[in-house]
Amino acid sequence: MNDPLDPGSPAEAIDIEIRDMGIDDLAPVYRLGERLFTSDLYPSLYRTWEEWEVIGFYNTDPEYCLVADAEGQLAGFVLGTVISKPSWTYGYIVWLGVNPDFQRRGVGDRLVDTIVERMIEEGARFMLVDTDPTNEPAIRFFTRKGFGNARKHVFLSLNLSKHEYYGKLLAYERNKAERMKSKRHRRRP
Ligand SMILES: CC(C)(COP(=O)(O)OP(=O)(O)OC[C@H]1O[C@@H](n2cnc3c(N)ncnc32)[C@H](O)[C@@H]1OP(=O)(O)O)[C@@H](O)C(=O)NCCC(=O)NCCS
Repeated sequence: MNDPLDPGSPAEAIDIEIRDMGIDDLAPVYRLGERLFTSDLYPSLYRTWEEWEVIGFYNTDPEYCLVADAEGQLAGFVLGTVISKPSWTYGYIVWLGVNPDFQRRGVGDRLVDTIVERMIEEGARFMLVDTDPTNEPAIRFFTRKGFGNARKHVFLSLNLSKHEYYGKLLAYERNKAERMKSKRHRRRP
């Protein structure tokens, strides 16, 4: 069995093929993502891993959905998109995941190189990626790949029921729904 702390050695080099994600990869990619993108790593609702992430990218950006195949085993995947603005075309790596059994063996490196090559062909001149500030391995990984200029993004939240004005609106809507429900009950023969 592989020791996850063992960074690997040339003797353990693995034969990896980077290829387009196919329909049969959707479920394994989703399951691997479920293991990797936990709520610890992604506490914000802005980034939640679900089936629609995989299906959606496969539908809209199939050329930027790649898997790393280790003799039939899923070693990793990357899902991304290209964003075109009047001034620049950006390549955005949205999800990158490497199977813990294959980490620290250059799989992420090869996935990123391949997706960036494809994005350059499509006109990308700038790359974007984002992750939680506590995700040290990913930050180190991307820094080593040359990414930088990190900007922190602040997420604010508000519990509407505790707000002076919105709380009243919420209670009003709740009462309205209750009234409709009991009206429907009364109308029943
Ligand atoms: C981040 C991640 C994709 C890296 O994949 P990987 O295949 O293990 O990366 P590589 O083997 O290509 O690593 C290249 C370099 O990145 C850095 N790195 C990768 N994992 C690291 C870790 N756990 N701790 C510290 N540095 C790390 C190292 O500099 C490494 O070079 P080295 O092994 O020679 O020291 C992988 O850890 C992962 O799937 N993490 C969970 C999901 C995630 O956070 N995705 C990114 C945001 S979407």
